Amino acid sequence: VRIDALEAAIAEDRRKGIRPMCLVGIFGSTNTGAMDSLPDLRRIADRESMWLHADAAYGGGMLLSRERPMRDRGLELADSITLDPHKWFFAPLDAGALLVKDESCLTRSFGMKPSYLTDGFDRSSERYLYITHMCFEQSRRFRSLKVWMSLKRYGSAEIGRWIDANVRQAERMHALVEKHPDFEAASDPPMSAICIRYKGGEPAEAARLHSSVARRIEQGGRFWISTTELKGRTWFRINPVNFRTRPEQMDELLALLERECAQAVVAAKKA
Ligand SMILES: Cc1ncc(COP(=O)(O)O)c(C=O)c1O
Repeated sequence: VRIDALEAAIAEDRRKGIRPMCLVGIFGSTNTGAMDSLPDLRRIADRESMWLHADAAYGGGMLLSRERPMRDRGLELADSITLDPHKWFFAPLDAGALLVKDESCLTRSFGMKPSYLTDGFDRSSERYLYITHMCFEQSRRFRSLKVWMSLKRYGSAEIGRWIDANVRQAERMHALVEKHPDFEAASDPPMSAICIRYKGGEPAEAARLHSSVARRIEQGGRFWISTTELKGRTWFRINPVNFRTRPEQMDELLALLERECAQAVVAAKKA
């Protein structure tokens, strides 16, 4: 979020009689791990009486990092936070979490008290809450079990070490690309996501080249990467978020990208 553009958009809404109600800041963007300034967004949200939500779905994993836990970036200033254990807490898919500062906001929004969901027992001493009063769902699977089990089995310190290893892998890819004449990186990786692009070939063919190379790499079965759009260009998006990934695999991946890109340029010339 560009703060000047945000301020202008809020002012424009107010001029039109529209009341803006929520600001969403990102704590680790999908493409590059970029972070919004949550203290700045908090200041604006307070001034404008708006809700502040922080999307830490991916970047929230950094909170467990041993080397750079990013606990000084103001995430705690948000009214609500999305955090996806199925991303960078290495949990299996379907374990998204929403944390709210004031739980009564959820019960006020979703709470319902049909007689069959209430009983006469005094539960004031129990750490037990009907989930149905806090979200859309009632009958649901026990999603939190796998998150709890992995924290119990591996512990937050070990998971944090895996996260640090992934960040170092992205940094290694960045360092390799910086030295490489045919590739460039979109930015320094603050987390594990890194976008790089091949500079060779015809500019008009770049998007096609990147997607055809990413497809060939997927078909090879050794790596899976995607492509994305940034700054009006197509990039390879690489995000090591697996605890089995090894540093040397970054070298291997870049060498493979180099070969595949060179071949794609030759093939495009022949076509
Ligand atoms: C920053 C960020 N927010 C939200 C999402 C969406 O997460 P989910 O698929 O768990 O809804 C993603 C998914 O890539 C993401 O990277």
